[in-house]
Amino acid sequence: LIRIDEIDISGKKLLIRVDYNVPLRGTDITDDLRIRASLPTLQYALSKNCALVLCSHLGKAKGAPDPKFSLAPAAERLSELIGREVKMAPDCLGEETKAMAAALGPGEILMLENLRFHPGETAGDRDFAKEVMSMAEVYVNDAFGTAHRPHASMVAFPAVAKQCCAGFLLMKEWKFLGEAVEAPTRPFVAVSGGAKVSSKLGVLKNLLDKVDAMVIGGAMANTFLAAQGYRVGKSLVEPDLYQEALDILKAAKEKGVGFYLPVDCIISYDAGKPLAEMRPAGQVPFAAIPDEAVVLDIGPVTAGLYALVIEPAKTVVWNGPMGAFENQAFAQGSYTLAHIIAGNNAVSIVGGGDTDVVVHQAGLADKMTFISTGGGASLEFLEGKELPAFKALKECQS
Ligand code: 3PG
Repeated sequence: LIRIDEIDISGKKLLIRVDYNVPLRGTDITDDLRIRASLPTLQYALSKNCALVLCSHLGKAKGAPDPKFSLAPAAERLSELIGREVKMAPDCLGEETKAMAAALGPGEILMLENLRFHPGETAGDRDFAKEVMSMAEVYVNDAFGTAHRPHASMVAFPAVAKQCCAGFLLMKEWKFLGEAVEAPTRPFVAVSGGAKVSSKLGVLKNLLDKVDAMVIGGAMANTFLAAQGYRVGKSLVEPDLYQEALDILKAAKEKGVGFYLPVDCIISYDAGKPLAEMRPAGQVPFAAIPDEAVVLDIGPVTAGLYALVIEPAKTVVWNGPMGAFENQAFAQGSYTLAHIIAGNNAVSIVGGGDTDVVVHQAGLADKMTFISTGGGASLEFLEGKELPAFKALKECQS
């Protein structure tokens, strides 16, 4: 991959694909990590007197304009963070937008409106790509969070661009996630959680070939334990994955990978209620879960055991929370793991799902080596897949 500082961009007009798909409450951005993470590339390009045309998607817009998915709040936040005006275009193509892009001078920034307001984006359409790319000379991809989507701005823009390169964020994600998995300093421990085995199967299978030990939490652990005959009450399980779960346990044994499952948990008797209304009903061993109970977090004995497994690690990759942390009553297991990982003298990589939210809520974000800006993208990366954005960039540069 060619990085933005490896080609001559001086004074040029750049089309930079960022991922400003940020969480919103109305028009308030509740987490601007992705906008802040794009700053190094933008500041570098500004220092080279470039004119910056930025583009992104936001939310699940369905190929037509939808004001609740406007990128205007992101443009405003970027303007505050970067300390200059960020002009907002009415669309990502069309005469008015093109005129704004054409009039853009060195050091100026234009934010295009949501790419998903046009069906061509998710369809990967080449004509759509040509029209948007006609506004700039160089394509820069810095949108790691979207790198797993074969959408136009990921694969067709570089195919029609005169010149393309990767931004600093894309390269940083590639380096940290890639190196952690391919050339980790050992011992290498993966911590995997979240609700479903089904969404983590690829990650578990790929990482089993790389790690020295794996610790499991979240409702996903229930499926592994139920597959071995444990009774898990009314907890979330995926019975059709019992065989897969048993195969993973067998494979771990054959490969000599330590595979650790919870031994105790925090339960509730409020099965069926919304999570926010569920109350904790104490800690029980996994071997004695009452039939009416639902498991919502790992217990303190498990956290202590996991601390022992993680302590010798030199590399830790963490994806997925240990429990239903959205309710504070069931967040302790995830917070304790965050403290264990943060306190360890290891390279710590956090990525996928809500793990970054856990780490931020625990106040430990600056204690981790690297927090990925990708949800689905970092999981697919950890599955060992080649992401469409990386493939397209390589092809465009060859
Ligand atoms: C993400 O938040 O995972 C990316 O921005 C991709 O968004 P999407 O899931 O709507 O494609």
